[in-house]
Amino acid sequence: MANVAVIGAQWGDEGKGKVVDWLASRADIVVRFQGGHNAGHTLVVGGQTYKLSLLPSGLVRGKLGIIGNGVVIDPDALLAEIEKVRAQGLSVGPETLRIAENAPLILPLHGALDRAREGARGDRKIGTTGRGIGPAYEDKVARRAIRVCDLAEPETLSDKLDELLLHHNTLLRGLGAPTFEKRELLDKLLALAPKILPFAEPVWERLDSARKAGKRILFEGAQAVMLDVDHGTYPFVTSSNTVAATASAGSGMGISGVNFVLGIAKAYCTRVGSGPFPTELHDEVGLGLGDRGHEFGTVTGRRRRCGWFDATLVRQAVKVGGIQGLALTKLDVLDGMKEIKVGVGYRIHGETFRRLPAGLRAQAAAEPIFETLEGWSESTRGAKSWADLPAAAVKYVRRIEELIEAPVTLLSTSPERDDTILVRDPFED
Ligand code: IMP
Repeated sequence: MANVAVIGAQWGDEGKGKVVDWLASRADIVVRFQGGHNAGHTLVVGGQTYKLSLLPSGLVRGKLGIIGNGVVIDPDALLAEIEKVRAQGLSVGPETLRIAENAPLILPLHGALDRAREGARGDRKIGTTGRGIGPAYEDKVARRAIRVCDLAEPETLSDKLDELLLHHNTLLRGLGAPTFEKRELLDKLLALAPKILPFAEPVWERLDSARKAGKRILFEGAQAVMLDVDHGTYPFVTSSNTVAATASAGSGMGISGVNFVLGIAKAYCTRVGSGPFPTELHDEVGLGLGDRGHEFGTVTGRRRRCGWFDATLVRQAVKVGGIQGLALTKLDVLDGMKEIKVGVGYRIHGETFRRLPAGLRAQAAAEPIFETLEGWSESTRGAKSWADLPAAAVKYVRRIEELIEAPVTLLSTSPERDDTILVRDPFED
């Protein structure tokens, strides 16, 4: 029996929803281990469309969902999402959802600071979701975060709010933004406590028992490796570690608890927000990919930047993310293209690189080196086996495998769940 972690291998929005849903249907428990309500997963199940940001996808399949300590939780967003999916007929209660007692909370002042700072950055803004993710993680590392367990201790809340407000109001004042009142925040948290605490527990214990009982656990990553705070295109990243190793620290399960890491990548590449994107297309071809791939953010609604598959970056994501097999999605978006390019390296100030260097200026100067492959005119949409694919499409996938140094273990050929070519079942050891 294997436990599986699923992570994005590009800059997010790789079409995780469908793959995670398929895996969740085969798992007993689904665990979120990093990020917050900046993520956006769309699941289409039984004719219903569920848009989840914070809740583990398995809930849609009636599986136990766990929000690990590595996640930053906005209690208002959580309760609103619970209400939304309940209205769609899902049952969400302490029997189906458990939340790590040591998970940090996102408060309204985090969102306010996130947005005020982005505003002050002007042209140099990161393009955050404005949901307070970065400031909440900063408070966690700075040891002043209010955590789920604090909701049970009014005195702790009061003390922590003093420290938080001293810090945040000073910053907000400096940025010319409205400040926050302690009484108002304290009342808010005390009112939230009875709604959140019934879900809270030491989830590491539950995960340990589940593992001993041979349950299948799916760790559901959010964002993607190139948005990882250490390994991504810093500072144009999110504020958590998105690599598979975080499944362990972000849930309290030892590192041996994850047996297979599935990376997800689109057959081309997109990015939302600012930051380097060497294979980005600024022409009709890029717009075409965006239109055919419906590339608009689930959370932000913004049009995503589009470009060719960057094998150099995905190879890097395979290495640092611990990816053992890749799920390649949206191959059908490339149907009908005469030729398809793949990024195989960069030229930076006259030098050739087979990785993206960490320096900001080097990243901005990276000119992609492309390899051109033959396209295909046939439709790959809905293909369920390799035999259904045109030879050029198979060649494209094989070339990607070579370049990224990892096998494509799953190929998704349409948003429908059954339109998938499975090479290796990630849950099989
Ligand atoms: P933050 O996570 O809101 O701090 O945003 C930091 C960067 O990560 C921005 O470029 C966002 O657009 C990006 N980002 C955050 N969450 C997602 C996601 O789920 N998909 C894609 N990009 C994301």
